[in-house]
Amino acid sequence: MIIAVDGPTASGKGTIARALAAHFGLPHLDTGLLYRAVGWQVADRGGNPDSADDALAATAFPDSLLDNPALRSEAVGALASRVSVHPAVRDALLARQRAFAGQPGGAVLDGRDIATVIAPQADAKLFVTASVAARALRRYVEMRGRGEDVSRESIEADLAARDARDSARSVAPLRQAEGAALLDTSALPPAAAIAAAIALVEKQTNR
Ligand code: DC
Repeated sequence: MIIAVDGPTASGKGTIARALAAHFGLPHLDTGLLYRAVGWQVADRGGNPDSADDALAATAFPDSLLDNPALRSEAVGALASRVSVHPAVRDALLARQRAFAGQPGGAVLDGRDIATVIAPQADAKLFVTASVAARALRRYVEMRGRGEDVSRESIEADLAARDARDSARSVAPLRQAEGAALLDTSALPPAAAIAAAIALVEKQTNR
């Protein structure tokens, strides 16, 4: 069983994808981490994330980089969004994602283009979203909890810019795939969002 979970940043898709993986006993891949690793490596080498050549050269990274907590920052998320517009970068990361989706028994993948490009054959497809205000508030609480000095306004502006870039790019833009169930988590606490996601997957897979 392949479960595709797509959606914008801070929509809750990561939490939902991890919970679905645990519930259905499937391995999980956070595909955003792959783009974050590329973005991080470009910056680490002093390269330009808007240069397709610099970004492509950074697509070969050690697996150990995926465990680096630095990848989770907002700054690296923005770098990931910039490198992800280059078609050559997306191509370089495609085989790894398809292989993960195609493993025996299935898998859960979350990202922006799982149901549209990586695994259109997925048995269950969710498009997880939430209002910009709700997503910005979540990020604000999370970042304040880490002791970061941020304002809600600046987070909202960053989220809106990232949404615009991810949705407007010409290759594999963020969009709800045909057949994907919409799950708006704006007013849902995590446990309720997870329960709703499990119910939608059960409905799509007749379980
Ligand atoms: O899900 P995330 O915030 O970790 O993703 C970081 C960026 O990576 C996102 O802004 C766009 C890009 N991305 C992508 O283009 N395709 C994916 N499947 C996952 C992420």
